[in-house]
Amino acid sequence: MSQRTLVLLKPDAVRRGLIGEVIGRIERKAGWQITALELRELDQDTLEQHYGEHKGKPFYEPLVAFMSSGPVVALVVEGERVIEGVRALAGPTDPIAAAPGSIRGDYGTIVRENLIHASDSEESAARELKIFFPGR
Ligand code: RTP
Ligand code: MG
Repeated sequence: MSQRTLVLLKPDAVRRGLIGEVIGRIERKAGWQITALELRELDQDTLEQHYGEHKGKPFYEPLVAFMSSGPVVALVVEGERVIEGVRALAGPTDPIAAAPGSIRGDYGTIVRENLIHASDSEESAARELKIFFPGR
């Protein structure tokens, strides 16, 4: 089943020079295509829409501050079961709990600075793609 998903390389990944490393793992999955890609800084309005489900939680304010601390790379990735697939490449939210071999497991230590965002369902993907790449 071909799907589309929204991926963000978070500011820590960009600052640490891991753009190529992370995108390379996505590119090497058979049949997946990157169909949009942009380096950009996220404004408060965009972040509020994107992470609205977490508003009011203790980690929300520091998360928004982190996500606006530098540029991110936003990508659209298309392909077979790509929503589940990029989540699997990323690993669980906590990088210490994430298995080695996953992006978060290989490169992260801090829960907030976990390198990558990927849509977690078809509904989230549709909503997030509209925020980051309207008209596509
Ligand atoms: P994401 O939405 O960024 O793809 O990550 P996720 O689904 O794995 O995790 P989620 O629960 O949606 O949390 C969003 C992001 O908030 C930061 N976070 N910090 N306790 C904490 O300090 C905490 N919990 C979550 C992480 O950057 C997480 O990816
Ligand atoms: Mg999430």
